[in-house]
Amino acid sequence: PRLAVLVSGRGSNFDALRAAIAAGRLHAEIALLASNRADAPALVRARAADIATFASDSRGSGDRAAWDRAFMAAVAAAQPDLIVLAGFMRRLDATAVAPWLGRMLNIHPSLLPKYPGLDTHQRVLAAGDAEHGASVHFVTAELDGGPVLAQARMPVLPGDTPADLAARLLPLEHQLLVAAVAAVASGRCRMQGTAILCGGQIL
Ligand code: GRF
Repeated sequence: PRLAVLVSGRGSNFDALRAAIAAGRLHAEIALLASNRADAPALVRARAADIATFASDSRGSGDRAAWDRAFMAAVAAAQPDLIVLAGFMRRLDATAVAPWLGRMLNIHPSLLPKYPGLDTHQRVLAAGDAEHGASVHFVTAELDGGPVLAQARMPVLPGDTPADLAARLLPLEHQLLVAAVAAVASGRCRMQGTAILCGGQIL
């Protein structure tokens, strides 16, 4: 299966997918790395690995819908079977998401449905939660709101700062994303309305 990976910055989740493919743990190919930041560091590593890239800076792009349309047209041109948002920090509108319902995943650093949106680590600490984690979900028009495919959990430790949580969560995200992408790319799991079917069993 062909993946299009969308990033906005560092791209460590992108690297995790690449490493899993190289190690034979993920049977897929990355057909395109696309970014809404022309200066995303992940673009340099993709080019060094001969992975096709597309970048269109969304800062000061004016008409949001027009930018989304052009960006998703470039992604579609790579003919991906699955789009993976991996540290992609721009909300795509309903029109952009519609054609990809069930074929677009996002990884979000919280135990959804808790803490959609930004600053999840700070919010976990502010709430005094004993647990934190990450979620991979199918993307819908609702921000961080689609059906959750898989989650990784970890304890919040005394004295944790937001940076501690982010650092401890990141390797868990990498493992979670590889497993979730493999489950969908292999056809083992798929979105069925608002539910998720894995091997005929509703999650
Ligand atoms: C990750 O924590 C991801 O969950 C969130 O932003 C961060 C991106 O990391 N969306 P990277 O760009 O994949 O390194």
